Amino acid sequence: MTTLVYQSGFGNEFATEALPGALPVGRNSPQRCPYGLYAEQLTGTAFTAPRADNRRSWLYRIRPSAMHTPFQRISLGAINSDYGMTPPNQLRWNPLPVPEQPTDFVDGLVSMAGNGDPYTQSGAGIYIYAANRSMKNRSFYSADGELLIVPQQGRQRFVTELGIIDAEPQEIVLIPRGLRFRVELLDATARGYICENYGANFRLPDRGPIGANGLANSRDFLTPVAAYEDVDGPHELVAKFGGHLWCAHMDHSPMDVVAWHGNDAPCKYDLRRFNAIGSISYDHPDPSIFLVLHSASDTAGVSNIDFVIFPPRILAMQDTFRPPWFHRNIASEFMGLVHGAYDAKADGFVPGGASLHNCMTGHGPDAETFEKASQADISKPHVITDTMAFMFETRCVLRPTVQALASAQLQGDYHRCWQGLQKHFHPERP
Ligand SMILES: [Fe+2]
Repeated sequence: MTTLVYQSGFGNEFATEALPGALPVGRNSPQRCPYGLYAEQLTGTAFTAPRADNRRSWLYRIRPSAMHTPFQRISLGAINSDYGMTPPNQLRWNPLPVPEQPTDFVDGLVSMAGNGDPYTQSGAGIYIYAANRSMKNRSFYSADGELLIVPQQGRQRFVTELGIIDAEPQEIVLIPRGLRFRVELLDATARGYICENYGANFRLPDRGPIGANGLANSRDFLTPVAAYEDVDGPHELVAKFGGHLWCAHMDHSPMDVVAWHGNDAPCKYDLRRFNAIGSISYDHPDPSIFLVLHSASDTAGVSNIDFVIFPPRILAMQDTFRPPWFHRNIASEFMGLVHGAYDAKADGFVPGGASLHNCMTGHGPDAETFEKASQADISKPHVITDTMAFMFETRCVLRPTVQALASAQLQGDYHRCWQGLQKHFHPERP
């Protein structure tokens, strides 16, 4: 893998040029840009959004993004996000297989669940992707939402308009709404999860009493430097717009941005750098303590989406049942496992798999985990290694797609993992 150069910080005002002097100084749109480039603004928030939330970048490119044929609607394939009847059941899926036919990132997207509506900029779509070849002479963007990509298998290269990001499992990639990119495989196959955030851009949460450090630290978010290609030839531009897929043709690569500045930019983050914070006395804090990024809703304190991880950590709580407890929440939880094993389940939840526990659907440790943890020696800390689970937690009910409910990977017997829980109640034995 080539060593790429990154700029550090979440949502910083970056300035980068692939040719010396390509970035205009002192003004965003001079009468004539250096090197004969075109100036173009990419705006990711309302023009008048408060300064702390405002995202925009200025791009200096070989040709403007407007140069393409009219879009034609194309088949959605497995990106189809039709929701059928949403059952209140606990749902879990085995990993989707990597296709045998030649399949790139876009072809390999499978819509699993979602809520809200890209037309009203609220809610999210959740996908799993599996691919066995790189995108070639083809790029993609979503006007519907920002993409939070969670690679699970195989190293992947994200060639974007604003530069190149290499990512491996246990790293995440954030692609702003509308940014064009392609995915190249650095290994034979690639798989991962995506949250398409229709709502407010993901941002780092406030830390409250935690203080100035901890959780995800801004400096660990890495944004690429400008890198352009000057490639003429047929190019296919695939857009996700209004829940549908559209295709237009270009006569050049759109990855032709020679210089840019601003804060509406892609980035990656290594989840292994997350500073996990938890109880050092008794009980569990709520999972919000593992919040990496959140998308705010219009209601203070209520997220459109939270991205939460369950990384390696030390459980030292005394007189406490240490795995995550039984619960029902107003929030809806789509979980995935990137690596290793998840401590609330003995088996059945494997890397690449997924589960969905919707609003007020009871869930928690399976019978085997409960019995083990109830008897465990908690005089010593329990060091959890080799794990990286995550959750897309949403305010609104997540509706599984018709294809996810019909999928051969859906586990018909998932509910059984709780059926073996024993009745321990004896009114005469306090
Ligand atoms: Fe849960």
